[in-house]
Amino acid sequence: MKDYLNYKDKVAVVTGASSGMGKATAEVLVNLGAKVYALDWNECDVKGIESYVHVDLSKKDSIDEAMKKLPSKIDTFFGIAGVSGAKNDFVSTVTIDLIANKYIVENYLTNMMEKGGSIAFMTSTAGNGWQLSDNKDIYKEVVEAKDWDKTLEALNKTGFQYLPGTLGYPFAKLAMNYYTVYIQKIFGPMGIRVNAVLPGSTDTGMKDEFEKMAGGEASLLSHCGYAQRLADSIEMALPIIFLNSDMATYASGVLMEVDYGNTSEEVAGLRDPGQTISLTAIQKMMASKK
Ligand SMILES: NC(=O)c1ccc[n+]([C@@H]2O[C@H](COP(=O)([O-])OP(=O)(O)OC[C@H]3O[C@@H](n4cnc5c(N)ncnc54)[C@H](O)[C@@H]3O)[C@@H](O)[C@H]2O)c1
Repeated sequence: MKDYLNYKDKVAVVTGASSGMGKATAEVLVNLGAKVYALDWNECDVKGIESYVHVDLSKKDSIDEAMKKLPSKIDTFFGIAGVSGAKNDFVSTVTIDLIANKYIVENYLTNMMEKGGSIAFMTSTAGNGWQLSDNKDIYKEVVEAKDWDKTLEALNKTGFQYLPGTLGYPFAKLAMNYYTVYIQKIFGPMGIRVNAVLPGSTDTGMKDEFEKMAGGEASLLSHCGYAQRLADSIEMALPIIFLNSDMATYASGVLMEVDYGNTSEEVAGLRDPGQTISLTAIQKMMASKK
C-alpha cells in the first residue's frame, strides 16, 4: 500500500505537544513513522517520540536553548502551542501565540528547512476578519517588525499592552492568520509550503477557560455549526497533519477553517457572526476614555 502521507523518518517538530491538539498531533505522527521532537513547557508523555525539549515560548532565550537541542535539519514544523489569555497578560499572550512562532520562523526555520519542507500553524477562528483593514491596520506593524525586541516595541506602540490577556488572544490569532500568508514570499521561493488550521471550539486543556470567557457552554456550542458539539483534539490534529503531508503538495497559504461550516456560513451571510472583532474600534474606544 502506498504511503501517501509520507511522514516515515521525517524530522517533525511539534510545539504544544504535551496537551490537546499538539499531543494528538504528536501521537499520530509517531504512528506514521516520523521522528517527533516535542516542544512544550510541560513534560510530554507521548510514547515513541525522539525527544521532549523543554521550552518557555514567552522567552527568547528559552527558545534559543530549545532550538539548539533539535537536529540541524527539520522536514516539517507544527506550531501548535498557545494560551487562551485567561491566565496571562496581553503581552505574554501575544508573545506565546504570535511572537514565538515569528521568532522561530525567521531565526531558525529559514536555515533549518529545505525544498519539500512544510510548516503549519494552529491559529483560530477567533482570528476571522484578519483580512479587514480594521484589524490589519493595527497588527500589521507588529507582524512585519524585524526582530524580537522590535516586535515587542511595535506591540507597545499599539497601546494595547494594558488590555486583558483575553484580548491578546484574538489579536495574536488575527495576526497569525495574516502571518501565514505574509511568509509565503519567504518560503514559496524555497519550495517550502506554509498553511494554517483555524479550529473552532475544541475540547482541550483550554476548554474551561474558553467556556468561561464565552459565558457558558451554550455560547461555545453556538459557534460549532451543525456539529452541535465541540471538536475533539484529534479532529484538529488530522487536518494539520494532512496540510503538512505529501497529500497536500500544492497547498500553500491555505487557512483551513475546521469548524463544521460555521465560518463559511457566516462569510456567505447565512449565519449571524454575532459580535465581530475590530481592533480599530477598540483603539478608538481606548482613545475616547483618555
Ligand atoms: N481549544 C480550542 O477551542 C481552540 C480553538 C482555536 C484555536 N486553538 C488553538 O489551538 C492551539 C492548541 O491549544 P489546545 O486547545 O490544544 O490547548 P492546550 O492547553 O490543551 O494545549 C496548549 C499547549 O501549549 C503549551 N504551552 C502554553 N504556553 C506555553 C509556553 N509559554 N511555552 C511552551 N509551551 C506552552 C501548553 O503546555 C500545552 O501543552 C493553541 O494555539 C490554541 O490557541 C484552540
